[in-house]
Amino acid sequence: MVPCKRCAPFFVFKRIHPPKTLICKGSPAQLQLYYSMDHGGIFYKIESLFFKKCKFCQDLLVKSVIENYLIETGEIMRKIFVAGNWKMNKTIAEAQDLLEAMLPQLAEIDNVEKGVAPVYLAIPSVVEQCRESGVKVGAQNVFWEASGAYTGEVAPAMVAEVCDFVIVGHSERRKYFGETDETVNKRLKAALAAGLEVIVCVGETLEENEAGLTAAVVTRQLTEGLAGITEAQAAKITIAYEPVWAIGTGLAATPEDANRVHKDVIRPLLKQQFGKLTSQQMRIQYGGSITADNAAELFAMSDIDGGLVGGASLKADSFVAIVQAASKVALEKKEL
Ligand code: 13P
Repeated sequence: MVPCKRCAPFFVFKRIHPPKTLICKGSPAQLQLYYSMDHGGIFYKIESLFFKKCKFCQDLLVKSVIENYLIETGEIMRKIFVAGNWKMNKTIAEAQDLLEAMLPQLAEIDNVEKGVAPVYLAIPSVVEQCRESGVKVGAQNVFWEASGAYTGEVAPAMVAEVCDFVIVGHSERRKYFGETDETVNKRLKAALAAGLEVIVCVGETLEENEAGLTAAVVTRQLTEGLAGITEAQAAKITIAYEPVWAIGTGLAATPEDANRVHKDVIRPLLKQQFGKLTSQQMRIQYGGSITADNAAELFAMSDIDGGLVGGASLKADSFVAIVQAASKVALEKKEL
């Protein structure tokens, strides 16, 4: 996208103090820009815009101001997102007990986004219990068709009726239920269209890792899994890098290795598809044997923006400790 000739001069900016005020060099106009970030997205408001341009260029202008400002100042902060994937665990009664034990402590933490993904049947009662707690509720899978004769499946609108987010492409779905990059893409598109936030899982197997294929596998999974997704839709997507060999094995990737995949493989792919600013805003969770002991070290890495937690999310003390570790890291990252 490039601005039209008439508007092009307005695209040269000088940042003055205080930093959120910008003077447009191309005209005497002054743009007061305020923005706030939450949930990985940017919301902005223009206080005063004295010069007239076409709508298209005005949007470009605002986008360009925000982009330059945030990139120049390094002010992009991704809110850490920790989600518990309960997999096929917890009856409704057990889910209630678990939440009862951890919600009071989780509710105290507001600088981390928190979520739990129970089995479908427990979702309504979990949603009820999580109300007002700031804990999001998600499903572990979703089908792409809207309705019909698909025994055993659940449609996106049905999930969206009760859930905030959905997980797609988990390696267990790929391994046991024939999930492919193509079906991940179909689920993702349908879930986004229904208004859901989506966690898209990628990750290589042990054999692929040992053969040096990590980057190639993750690149393929993301390229095909995210095919046709627009920049606007990207704001609702979190990527979870879950090396298959680390899931449920007690062998987490080292923070450095995981961060290398996030920073050097996943984020550049996101940049290629969605642009620099959006790629900087998108969260990339790590998943695979996260515990209360290794969580802080993992979350402290530059491009690890939270975690998708399996086993350790099934116990109140370990999940709370992981979210507390995330909260502490979030404070430290802010102070940097
Ligand atoms: P574990 O934390 O049990 O290794 O599971 C990770 C995972 O698969 C989360 O989706």
